[in-house]
Amino acid sequence: MLFTIFGATGDLTTKKLIPALYHLFEEEQLPTPFTIVCVGRRRYETEQFVELIRSKIEGDYPHWEDFCTNLHYLSMDFSSEANFDIFKNYVDAMHLSTNGQKIYYLATAPHYFPIIARALIVTHMLNRGDMRSKIVFEKPFGENLETAKAYNRLLLESIEESQVYRIDHYLGKEMLQNILTVRFANKIFESIWNHENIESVKIIALESESVKQRGGYYDRSGALKDMVQNHLFQTLALVAMDAPMGLSDTLIKNEKVEVLEHLQVSNDIIFGQYAGYLQEKDIPEDSKTETFVALKAYVNSQRWRNTPFYLITGKKMSRKLAEIVITFKDATCFFERGQPEKNTLTIEIFPREGIILKFNGKAPGLWSYTMPMHLDYCHLCNIIGNSPEAYEKLILDVIHDDASLFTRWDEIENSWKVIDEIERLKAFEPLHVYYSESEMLDIVNKKWGL
Ligand SMILES: NC(=O)c1ccc[n+]([C@@H]2O[C@H](COP(=O)([O-])OP(=O)(O)OC[C@H]3O[C@@H](n4cnc5c(N)ncnc54)[C@H](OP(=O)(O)O)[C@@H]3O)[C@@H](O)[C@H]2O)c1
Repeated sequence: MLFTIFGATGDLTTKKLIPALYHLFEEEQLPTPFTIVCVGRRRYETEQFVELIRSKIEGDYPHWEDFCTNLHYLSMDFSSEANFDIFKNYVDAMHLSTNGQKIYYLATAPHYFPIIARALIVTHMLNRGDMRSKIVFEKPFGENLETAKAYNRLLLESIEESQVYRIDHYLGKEMLQNILTVRFANKIFESIWNHENIESVKIIALESESVKQRGGYYDRSGALKDMVQNHLFQTLALVAMDAPMGLSDTLIKNEKVEVLEHLQVSNDIIFGQYAGYLQEKDIPEDSKTETFVALKAYVNSQRWRNTPFYLITGKKMSRKLAEIVITFKDATCFFERGQPEKNTLTIEIFPREGIILKFNGKAPGLWSYTMPMHLDYCHLCNIIGNSPEAYEKLILDVIHDDASLFTRWDEIENSWKVIDEIERLKAFEPLHVYYSESEMLDIVNKKWGL
């Protein structure tokens, strides 16, 4: 197998891709023999690159030396298609088996996607119908609906849809995969999963990090394109979709598309930019890019009539947190001592993976006081060893030709339609400069009482 990473000196490769490939190697999940070619712009020898990566990744890597005998670094500017002859010659000189898989992973900003894809097609490194050659695109696929359509057209003119993998690593997360199981493997949830019983759904993804060295990428993207168009919309689609006729990949995606097609965002959107953003590397001094966004959306369907879905995400928050909170409507009975609180079902995605159900019961003792109680399921506590990282799962799925946890073109197309609409509204909304998480969450709470 030849596994090529374009964008190999980037944050994603260091933090996620190399560790994921290493763990798959350690678990003997990679096809053998395998070669990993890391393509970046900076000038390094392979040994220097390997040392640099090792110095940046935390944890125990007892078989690192063995793993690295399969790893190579190539310095190349991929903004020009002409340079791809360098890449082809480099790979040809390795005399790899012609029977092995070839996976090209684009860990780059989206505007490089068409250049790299076209060059791979033109140099016949990626050929239509050769199911052993596959191309993986990081999110976001495109920069808006128009560019996404153009990239997709370019691909499908030359290769098969089944050779294309559009990644959204949220879908590889254990608790995202668990949403459908919890919903459809239990009688108790599905029957109350609708506007008659659910008051609101909140999907929140907070990051403590700033843009760090990724200003060049982030400023063209912002929170809307970096988080909402992909991770948050995909999460919403899983929570809101109707039960599919069967649990096949196609049927599930059809239902998700139904949700995205009927998604409508209310006009009052909250945008923020953290104080100090304009001083970050590669950020224009007058940038209006949002690093925080909170929005209220509705799914126009029978099931979700008038039910608000709140989506909240931001950088430079005080913590890293991702969770879904489903709040149920008030109980109808009146209790003399202690009014019942609203039931909530919280699906925790990060830092803990778990599910908490809050319900009401009688307080212990002589008197009949109502008090809130929690059923608490910790997902990680119940499995032996570490939960696999999303990227391990997704890379393995690419190797095994399994696209079920990757996004289909119509999911992306419908997501971009909504994002383009929000982008148009953005010009009319204030951009709050914030110093802390609480400042932005206070604005959200004042507006929507969350
Ligand atoms: N970082 C994350 O945690 C994360 C998570 C999920 C998805 N993603 C997605 O992954 C993609 C990459 O993100 P990232 O954070 O890794 O970005 P990044 O840190 O900015 O890295 C970008 C990479 O592209 C390379 N590059 C840029 N222009 C180049 C050129 N003309 N020729 C050759 N190489 C060039 C850079 O090389 P040099 O540094 O050598 O210039 C670097 O290796 C984005 O689409 C992002 O949305 C990232």
